[in-house]
Amino acid sequence: MNQMGTEQTDRKHNIPRHIAVIMDGNGRWAQKRGLPRTAGHRAGMKTLKQTVRWCVDTGVEHLTVYAFSTENWKRPGDEVSFLMNLMIEMMKREIEELDRKGVKICVLGDLEPVPEGTREAIRQGVERTAGNTTLQLNIAFNYGGRQDILQAVRRIASEGVPPAEITEETFGNFLYTEGIPDPDLVIRTSGELRISNFLLWQIAYAEIVIADVLWPDFDRAEFDRALSAYGSRRRRYGGLDDDNR
Ligand code: IPE
Ligand code: IPE
Ligand code: MG
Repeated sequence: MNQMGTEQTDRKHNIPRHIAVIMDGNGRWAQKRGLPRTAGHRAGMKTLKQTVRWCVDTGVEHLTVYAFSTENWKRPGDEVSFLMNLMIEMMKREIEELDRKGVKICVLGDLEPVPEGTREAIRQGVERTAGNTTLQLNIAFNYGGRQDILQAVRRIASEGVPPAEITEETFGNFLYTEGIPDPDLVIRTSGELRISNFLLWQIAYAEIVIADVLWPDFDRAEFDRALSAYGSRRRRYGGLDDDNR
């Protein structure tokens, strides 16, 4: 193999299979411009569209984005409504292009408290893209890591699963992320150094990259920086590096 080919193989080898993103900083982005916070959420949706494209281009298999947390209901009613409607917009206006790209949409979270219109739009988007295989876009919506674990425990208890059969693997099958490999890389924008109740179980061994830009400003250069940081990490999973074994 020539040198070029080797480089390409190595690069592909270091591409995370699953990227999870805490899309943070929309409100601050808008406020800095004297705009309402909702303008930041709209700008953030554009960034999400682009991020989907970059993931497809680089061969990432799963992109999970934190779009609305179980704690975000604490925000003013008009901001919450805007976010519920933005989800409808995304499922209607963007679905054509996402479908064309081969993106399969899944939603992680408890949709029960979500308004009916949003739920219905989600249902249609999920159904329309169900057969796609290029990239799986998992949208964490009314998602909380603790709530995810609790709903799993409740279902395990109600199904009467014998305690000895509750292993890490079977437990994982009760989480919203059933069948999805654990994230390899978590990116949080806006420089904030916390997890904010995102995928608590699933990120046990994820690599974390904090980007110092607000989510609407997250661009291809930031994405590539995160990927290259990931590529240089040594994932030990509690063991030792190859050269120390
Ligand atoms: C992230 O941006 C989007 C959601 C939480 C829905 P924020 O709305 O949290 O923006 P900041 O962090 O207040 O700037
Ligand atoms: C996390 O951001 C939730 C989403 C990105 C949807 P928040 O803005 O809600 O998190 P905190 O409040 O700063 O921890
Ligand atoms: Mg925030």
